[in-house]
Amino acid sequence: MASIKQAQKIMVGGVNSPVRAFNAVGGNPLVMERGRGTKLFDDNAHEYTDYCLSWGALILGHAHQDVVKTVQKAVKNGVSYGTTTKPEIEIAQFIVKHVPSIDMVRFVNSGTEATMSAIRLARGFTKRNKIVKFDGCYHGHSDDLLAMAGSGVSFLASSSSQGIPSAHIQDTMSLPFNDTQILANTLERHHADIACVILEPVPGNMGIINPNKDFLKNLRALTKKYNIVLIFDEVMSGFRSNLGCAQADLGIIPGLTCLGKIIGGGFPVGAYGGRSDIMKHLSPLGGIYQAGTFSGNPIVMQAGLATLKNLTPQAYRKLNVICDEFVANTNMILKEANAEAHLVNYKSMISLRFRSAPVYNYTDAKNASSDKLYAKLFHHLLRRGIYWPPADLEALFVSTVHTQRDLDALQKAIKDFFI
Ligand SMILES: Cc1ncc(COP(=O)(O)O)c(C=O)c1O
Repeated sequence: MASIKQAQKIMVGGVNSPVRAFNAVGGNPLVMERGRGTKLFDDNAHEYTDYCLSWGALILGHAHQDVVKTVQKAVKNGVSYGTTTKPEIEIAQFIVKHVPSIDMVRFVNSGTEATMSAIRLARGFTKRNKIVKFDGCYHGHSDDLLAMAGSGVSFLASSSSQGIPSAHIQDTMSLPFNDTQILANTLERHHADIACVILEPVPGNMGIINPNKDFLKNLRALTKKYNIVLIFDEVMSGFRSNLGCAQADLGIIPGLTCLGKIIGGGFPVGAYGGRSDIMKHLSPLGGIYQAGTFSGNPIVMQAGLATLKNLTPQAYRKLNVICDEFVANTNMILKEANAEAHLVNYKSMISLRFRSAPVYNYTDAKNASSDKLYAKLFHHLLRRGIYWPPADLEALFVSTVHTQRDLDALQKAIKDFFI
């Protein structure tokens, strides 16, 4: 049996992505062996109801029979050709049909690649260098995007990782989310140099924040006025609540959209797409280069398509309703008990805040966060067979196969922790 101790000797921290190391919650990271439906099974045969779901990728739960059968059939025909394939065309057609902003799409292998490439495209298209992002929004780990301003506006953004040359982030401005005034001032002053504004339209990486509708409307109007490319990073929110993604819910159409997670059915994937007059600047039609050996891999595309085909209006309605009800009922219980906590959700993406007041931006999110309490809560849930993301300020996810009984058990576990 492989143990985490063995992993730690030969893989950095025993993991291949830092948050998996349980640094934020303490204890040894689990070595998982198997997933089925809502359940994950570790190498000690313990069973957990999974609300991490491969960080949001598995909207149908683990090992959904349509995805498994599709992949089993597909691998018999070879796993990678390095050419265009039929499933790639089909999933591209599906995405173009449903996502309002996307006329043309390019597949890549991760969300990081999608956002990095969308930014290059925006820079090449506008012939400008600067990018604007928002504090607490995460867009993957490319150099230009690992920058986070201090409080308020900072034009001297400091990097959130070592090893990034200052030249890479000197063109990155990071602003507070939901603050129209700071955004308007920044764009007015710097628009001639700004290629794009990138954001998670419904942030999930500082916990869930439901955006102020006026903020998004102003953002859309200002970027249009200054010919700045508006990029929605829907790697997490894409196909979460409906087939048109968060942009359809919010009624705001960006110039470019980044996707990932759900569209790969649990396999590594990313995509970016948008207006064809922008997309046509990409190589081979235009002069902006971006490529990938495995991009549009036929197994990934088929797993993604099998997933998307299961996301019927009824499936979304049921999932969204049970999540809304779960959050409202849990909040009522927490409020009645005067607990310093509340849940917030964007449909089946949910976060817990350690305060009763709402959260509008990253400063609020940090104030409503407690590593110590979260660690206690995480282990309390784990003992009850519930697996949550092993760090505060992450989103947890519910799948189409979670039942009312699962959510009742989760609610009871939360109640017993706080009350
Ligand atoms: C909104 C968002 N953008 C980009 C990424 C990066 O995606 P990946 O981990 O596939 O590189 C993530 C990952 O969680 C994300 O949540």
